[in-house]
Formats: sequence, C-alpha cells, structure tokens
Amino acid sequence: MEATNETEKIISEQLSSLNKIDTTESLEEWRVNTLGRQGVITSILKSISSLPVEERKAAGSAANQGKTRLQDAFGIKQKQLLANASSNSSDSIDVSLPGRPATRGKLHIVTQTIREISSVFVSLGFQIQEGPEVEWGKYNFDMLNIPQDHPARDMWDTLWVEKNHDDSEPLLLRTHTSPMQARIMESSTPPIRVIIPGKCYRYEATDATHEWQLTQIEGLAVDSDISFADLKGTLYEFAKRIFGQDRQVRFRCDYFPFVEPGVDMSIDCFKCSGKGCSICSHTGWIEILGAGMVHPNVFKGVNYDPEKYKGFAFGMGVERIAMLKYEIDDIRNFYTNDLRFLSQF
Ligand code: DAH
Repeated sequence: MEATNETEKIISEQLSSLNKIDTTESLEEWRVNTLGRQGVITSILKSISSLPVEERKAAGSAANQGKTRLQDAFGIKQKQLLANASSNSSDSIDVSLPGRPATRGKLHIVTQTIREISSVFVSLGFQIQEGPEVEWGKYNFDMLNIPQDHPARDMWDTLWVEKNHDDSEPLLLRTHTSPMQARIMESSTPPIRVIIPGKCYRYEATDATHEWQLTQIEGLAVDSDISFADLKGTLYEFAKRIFGQDRQVRFRCDYFPFVEPGVDMSIDCFKCSGKGCSICSHTGWIEILGAGMVHPNVFKGVNYDPEKYKGFAFGMGVERIAMLKYEIDDIRNFYTNDLRFLSQF
C-alpha cells in the first residue's frame, strides 16, 4: 500500500511541475526526467519486483495508470506550447493582408498570332492542316520544282537529317511549309483551300532577324477557275484584318521556283503611314509575304492537269508578322522563355 501511495504522490508532483512549464525546452527536460528511459516512471516500474508479492499487483497498476496520465498530460501541454509558438511568431498568417493574385499561364505569342491569322483564313473558307517537320527532300525541294543541283536550293540553308552519297531519299528538317502543298495535292482533288501553320528549320546563324527555328503559315488554293485576282483579293483581306482596315498593299515580282508568276506582298507602313521610319527602313513599305500562281511543273508532279486547274499559294513568317504588329525588334526573344517578354502579350 505504501508503494502505491508513494507512486501517486510522485505522479501528482510530476503533474504539477508539468503545469508550470511554459517553454518547449523545459518541456523536453521534463519528458526526459519523467517518462524517459531513466526517468522516475521507469524507476518506479523497476522497483515493483522488489515489493512483497501481495503488493505488486496494486503497485503495478498504479504505476501504469500514472504513466498514462502523465503521457496524456504531456501531449496536451506539447500542443498548447506549439499553438502559442505559431501565433506569436512573425511569419504567422495575417488574415488582414490583401491576397496575392495567382499568376496564370497564357498562350505563347507565336501561338496567339497563328490563331489570329488562321481565323482570318478560316473565315474566308480555308481549312487548317499540319504536316511533318522531318521531311523528305522530295517534298521539300523536288516536287516544288527545285530539282537537285538547282541553284535555287541555296535559298534555303538546310539542316539534313540523313543524306546518302547518291542523294537518294534524303531526309531533312523542312526549311519551309511549302512541302505540304505537294503532300496535300498528292492526296486530294480540287477544290482545295488550305492553310498550313508549322515550324520550319534553317541552317543559319542567329541574329536579330534570323532564327534557325521559325514558324510559317503556308496557303494553297486550287480550283478550275482561280486567277491572280483571287490571290490579290484574299491577301488584301488578310492584310487589312491583321494590320488595319486602311492598309494599302503592293505586289512586286519575286522569284520562287514553285510559283509563276511569283510575287512578294508589302503593306504600307502602319507606323509612319508611308512617310518613312525605322520599321519600314524609310521606304514606306513593309514586305510581309511571298506568293504566286502554282507553277505548272508542281501540278504535273502531283498528276494535276495544268490546263484544267489553276491555283495560288503563299507563305509568311509568323514571327515576322508578330514582330511588325507588336514592334518586337529581336526575333530571338520568342524562344528565350523570358517571362518579362512573354507576359507582355
Ligand atoms: N516557302 C517560301 C519561303 O520559305 C515562302 C513562299 C513564297 C511560299 C511563295 C509560297 C509562295 O507558297 O508562293 O521562303
């Protein structure tokens, strides 16, 4: 009986000392002294075996109950101290502060521009199609009336994926989206009205106006009665919708092997209205795309009768259009992933 009373006395002493504790350090000290391996509870439990047999049961159960009470009280104290610590500390939540807006992702400026241009052509009855970026030399060159060893191949510095000694079936990264003209005609019959947005690659040193990866939008319309007037009307509408309703356009002869006649289209400078500024290199005009009437040889290559069908094609650089529209002076900005640039659009 004596031992049991003694145990209860020790338990209540420990509880009252626990009550007075107000720091996590002294709580830890209390835990080691009371519940630790060499603490008071352990020594009480150890001493039970030396008691007379008839006292052991009561003493054991008093010690175990006491241990449980101390453990529970310890847990409660620990929680209290933690709660106090976090409400006192300087990084606790201040609910009166205004919220921080979460940053939202958005479409890349090149994607936005592709969509804007595409929607103009879709409204004019064009469909959208995509094609492979790794392309056969046949589509990128031969079927576009650019045979092997033709000097016009120099117009596109090419990144070759695989090139055999005899130049049979070379594989390359397409240098423009024009190969899709041949692919689409080869697998369908007119009427065709399609635009092809996509990435192209050039073996080129980069500078403010050249990138080795660029985005183009190709266009192709083929039917039995298409004329140069359709080309002009379509591209004029495009220019007005993208650069402003009061735009003027100018067509000049240019050479692209897959069209005849070939042209380039310029718009009057939207910045200086033709007076001359740095955007238009003081000419009043800005060149925005290449175009022309599909060359008879291209038709022959896809087994279309050039007497029966006519068509026009065009191709433009998406980065160039975006650079003009938003006055971006370095094409390299598009692919350096700098949020200070990207978040402006
Ligand atoms: N593929 C040409 C280039 O990358 C652009 C082009 C010019 C496409 C005239 C055309 C076209 O379809 O008719 O330089």
